[in-house]
Amino acid sequence: MNILAVESSCDETAAAVVTDGRTVRSSVVASSTTMHRKYGGIVPEVAAREQLRCIIPTIRETLQQADTPLTAIDALAVTYGPGLIGSLLVGVETVKALAMVTGKPVIPVHHVIAHMYANLLDPVSGTPEVSFPAISLVVSGGHTELFVLESWQSLRWLGGTVDDAAGEAFDKAARLLGFANLGGPAIQQAAAGYHPPQPPLVRLPRPMLDQPALTFSFSGLKTAIVREWQKQPPTPLRVSAFAHEIQEAITDVLVRKTMLAAARHQARSLLISGGVAANSRLRTKFAAALSEVAGAPSLHIPPLQYCTDNAAYIAAYAYQRNSPVPWQDITARPDLSVERDI
Ligand code: KG4
Ligand code: ZN
Repeated sequence: MNILAVESSCDETAAAVVTDGRTVRSSVVASSTTMHRKYGGIVPEVAAREQLRCIIPTIRETLQQADTPLTAIDALAVTYGPGLIGSLLVGVETVKALAMVTGKPVIPVHHVIAHMYANLLDPVSGTPEVSFPAISLVVSGGHTELFVLESWQSLRWLGGTVDDAAGEAFDKAARLLGFANLGGPAIQQAAAGYHPPQPPLVRLPRPMLDQPALTFSFSGLKTAIVREWQKQPPTPLRVSAFAHEIQEAITDVLVRKTMLAAARHQARSLLISGGVAANSRLRTKFAAALSEVAGAPSLHIPPLQYCTDNAAYIAAYAYQRNSPVPWQDITARPDLSVERDI
């Protein structure tokens, strides 16, 4: 079954063709990095206008790369929420028009939940399949959420952030440190190779680390970063020390809470996904934490290109859920909650 999926919930414009929910035939992402650099973040109005310009060429390119004509597509999928309203509308209305003209079924997709299905894409032979129950951490620019899955069709939300998302914390901290590019990769790069002296130059809190609730909070960390940063003038050494400690603080909390959820639910697999799952320190820490557990769950983290926003995992989700809706009934839902789709 060939699914053509479209994703435009934030500032990216993406399309993909995926066969049987697993084999990525093509995945095209029109990047917004230059916009980030120019405006220091996302300007919704600017993003939507850019997406309107990109959407048709992106869909055409993905079909060409997959060497698949529209007639060989069995179903369409599109992100309908959550996200920026102008951005969502671009993808949703384009796919509805395609559905009306071609008569193909459309599967509406929840962006946050879809992230975890990136773990199904392009399976490498020899790696273990996901076993259930599985704990899933979706950690992106807008979300930090934990779910428990009984199967790919059945899942339950366990908890999430009460304020900022982990990616947002990376992005805000990076801006403070003077980086113009996307926060997470900039912090990761600045932290690389830095070894803190004893005592360290900077020490930041690990919010909610020792509390039993499966909730996260990153806004206090942001305040602590600002307070510590303003104590002395910036130097290249301070930038590296801060980047290192920020990355350590955020990843410590993500790993500890996820391991707590895994133990509580006797998880047989751990699924990590979303843009922050691209972080190499986070990957290393999860592997290290699991190596200390007898009968540890298997660890699944998608390849880098499927961590950040793309349309391939939208297709993977659509294949697993396979719940088409008449195109007339699909509307963009910017505030779609993480508990709604389950
Ligand atoms: O999933 P995503 O592309 O978009 C959302 O759905 O939000 O995630 C984007 C987030 C950004 O906050 C970005 O800074 C973060 O993912 N990110 C990273 C890394 N690469 C992207 N955070 C930490 N380390 C990285 N290497
Ligand atoms: Zn995302």
